[in-house]
Amino acid sequence: ASIVVLVSGNGSNLQTILDQCEQGSINGKVTAVFSNKSTAYGLERAQQAGVDAISLAQGDFADRAAFDAELMTQIDQYQPDLIVLAGYMRILSDNFVQHYAGKMLNIHPSLLPKYPGLDTHQRAMDNGDKEHGASVHFVTPELDAGPVILQAKVPVFTEDDIEELSSRVHTQEHMIYPMVIQWFCAGRLAMTNGKAVLDGEE
Ligand code: GRF
Repeated sequence: ASIVVLVSGNGSNLQTILDQCEQGSINGKVTAVFSNKSTAYGLERAQQAGVDAISLAQGDFADRAAFDAELMTQIDQYQPDLIVLAGYMRILSDNFVQHYAGKMLNIHPSLLPKYPGLDTHQRAMDNGDKEHGASVHFVTPELDAGPVILQAKVPVFTEDDIEELSSRVHTQEHMIYPMVIQWFCAGRLAMTNGKAVLDGEE
């Protein structure tokens, strides 16, 4: 399977995906990494792995639609079977999302439907939540609202700070995201009638 990954930042999730493709535990190949930030460390990770790393500057485009249209054109040159959002911090236009319906995944650092959007770790701590976590879901036009495929939970301790909590969540992300990607690459996972279906079951 040809996998295209979108990042905006550090790319630690990207790294686990690159590593597992290399090791063969994901039956696919990352064919390109795109970023909307030229400084994203994820681009360097891609280069180090010998993968095409492309950055597009928002300032070069009139609006979101124009940016996304160019992104789509460039992505499609890699004939992707799967688009993986891995810390891609830019809202995608409906057109873009629909173009990749059923073949675009995101990982979000909360137990969705709790805390869509930003600052999820802070919000979980502020609310005194006892547990927090991460969710892998199919991307649909509504932000962070697509059908959830897999979640991982972590405890929240009263003495946690944001770094501790977010690193605990990241560790889980690095387990569940490659797993779901492998399910998809193995043909076990689909989005059917707006629901996530694994091995024929919702
Ligand atoms: C992760 O917490 C992910 O859930 C969120 O963005 C972060 C990306 O981290 N969407 P990294 O760039 O993979 O290290």
